[in-house]
Amino acid sequence: MSQRRRTAVLISGRGSNMAALLAAAADPAYPAEIALVLSNRADAAGLDHARVRGVPIAVVESRRFGRDRVAFEAAMEAEFAVHGIELIALAGFMRVLTEGFVSRWSGRMVNIHPSLLPAFPGLDTHARALAAGVRLHGCTVHLVSPGVDEGPILAQAAVPVLPEDTEASLAARVLAEEHRIYPAALAWLAAGRVTLEGGIARVMAAPAAGALCNPLPVPGPLPTSNGKS
Ligand code: GAR
Repeated sequence: MSQRRRTAVLISGRGSNMAALLAAAADPAYPAEIALVLSNRADAAGLDHARVRGVPIAVVESRRFGRDRVAFEAAMEAEFAVHGIELIALAGFMRVLTEGFVSRWSGRMVNIHPSLLPAFPGLDTHARALAAGVRLHGCTVHLVSPGVDEGPILAQAAVPVLPEDTEASLAARVLAEEHRIYPAALAWLAAGRVTLEGGIARVMAAPAAGALCNPLPVPGPLPTSNGKS
């Protein structure tokens, strides 16, 4: 197969999405090679997972740079240069990037976000989804534009919000979908299957057919107030 695209995964914490990308990239046929895991925190749990798997890691501590985001990003880009990085996958990387950095990596940097964007950008997405009473929630993989959690959408997965959900149960349901769509979306980008048309991403992949619906509008006995039908 053609050359695999050398990809840096950027993390700040747990690194479960990073682990999903590493697992996918363990297949030599996967079009991206994870050539670097970079964290802005030395205590990010995900670093150990990458280290054990023999993936090169780097720590560029954002707090060392204070408010100087340009210097922080220059230090990260020095690491990218050392490792010949072509693509960036943000995986729970909790720093806002400058417009300059984002434009240098335009079309070559993806992010995963735990909501159906453009709903609920930013933090606390699951609590906000519960508070808003939405019936479907989910996750989005998108190319990164300068705004926070903005950019052309590559893939989304929706999950139902169930009456008994807590923030934790909803987060877990969404996270399982994150681990499914992120490896797929990075593969599409790495394989050159993504094109941009007027700010919209077109992906050469099989579209999912059918509708997602929750609750299901099927005829049937209605539950009574004590939960029995
Ligand atoms: C994930 O849920 C990811 O979508 C979210 O942080 C979590 C990181 O978990 N990212 C954002 O909120 C970005 N705006 P992980 O470290 O286990 O992958």
